[in-house]
Amino acid sequence: MKASYRHLLLFLVVLIFFIDDARMVSLVDPTYGFVDVMLNESNFEYQKPYDTPLCQRYIYQNGTHRFWVYSDDKPHHLGSNTQPRTEIRILPDYTSGVWQFEGLAFIPNGTSGATIVQIHGAAHGNTTSLLRIYNGEMRYYSTQVIDTNLYDRWFKVNLIHDVDGGKVIVFVDNKKKLKIHDQGPGLLHFKFGVYGAPRNISYYMESRWKDVKIYKKY
Ligand SMILES: *[C@@H]1O[C@H](CO)[C@@H](O)[C@H](O)[C@H]1NC(C)=O
Ligand SMILES: *[C@@H]1O[C@H](CO)[C@@H](O)[C@H](O)[C@H]1NC(C)=O
Ligand SMILES: *[C@@H]1O[C@H](CO)[C@@H](O)[C@H](O)[C@H]1NC(C)=O
Ligand SMILES: *[C@@H]1O[C@H](CO)[C@@H](O)[C@H](O)[C@H]1NC(C)=O
Ligand SMILES: *[C@@H]1O[C@H](CO)[C@@H](O)[C@H](O)[C@H]1NC(C)=O
Repeated sequence: MKASYRHLLLFLVVLIFFIDDARMVSLVDPTYGFVDVMLNESNFEYQKPYDTPLCQRYIYQNGTHRFWVYSDDKPHHLGSNTQPRTEIRILPDYTSGVWQFEGLAFIPNGTSGATIVQIHGAAHGNTTSLLRIYNGEMRYYSTQVIDTNLYDRWFKVNLIHDVDGGKVIVFVDNKKKLKIHDQGPGLLHFKFGVYGAPRNISYYMESRWKDVKIYKKY
């Protein structure tokens, strides 16, 4: 039993190398070598316009988190000058190691200028990485295009933060799309939902998420 299990694992590893070698990297699971950090409700902190009940900007139904916000909504704290958001912050913060966010996202056509997933915290600035949707494209912050044609379909996002190596890697639908330096260590956490960009924001912004997981490499 154990031996055949080991043979199966060996076969899978060899298969992955062959696939990689053939440059069919699309079939590689970005979570390979990572361990699922089981999340429950205690890991979620909800952020929404401070004057609006959560149920008017968020619903969890049928295994899907649906977040929406309007560009003239209030920020999440009275006195904050940030753009409106409805987001889930994943607790607790991490400060070192290699961490990964995974989720399936759906962005309806019309949502634009919205951060849908981010790594908050950094040595320099407030964030390590923002992935935004503009006109169906995913961009790293405002300008660098990561992927296109993302409206009205489910797509898989894997966001790896190697804090020790100072790197961020983005996969969309299991294809590696971006590898970039991070902004230095800090008190770090992943957030997903919708958060208005500084400019070029649609009035209505929505994202849906399911199968959200956090992984860690040991
Ligand atoms: C939820 O996760 C926390 C932290 O990992 C753990 O301490 C707690 O026991 C879990 N609660 C349930 C109901 O599983
Ligand atoms: C809930 O999910 C099931 C299975 O994926 C689907 O058939 C059904 O239409 C969904 N219901 C709603 C209200 O989204
Ligand atoms: C999004 O909606 C606009 C306006 O209705 C339409 O022109 C465009 O083709 C749509 N894009 C996609 C990808 O469906
Ligand atoms: C960082 O966040 C603080 C508090 O929200 C804000 O005052 C400051 O402008 C932000 N800095 C940047 C570079 O966005
Ligand atoms: C915002 O829109 C203006 C005018 O269409 C354009 O020049 C600018 O590049 C856009 N900025 C972003 C961040 O997309």
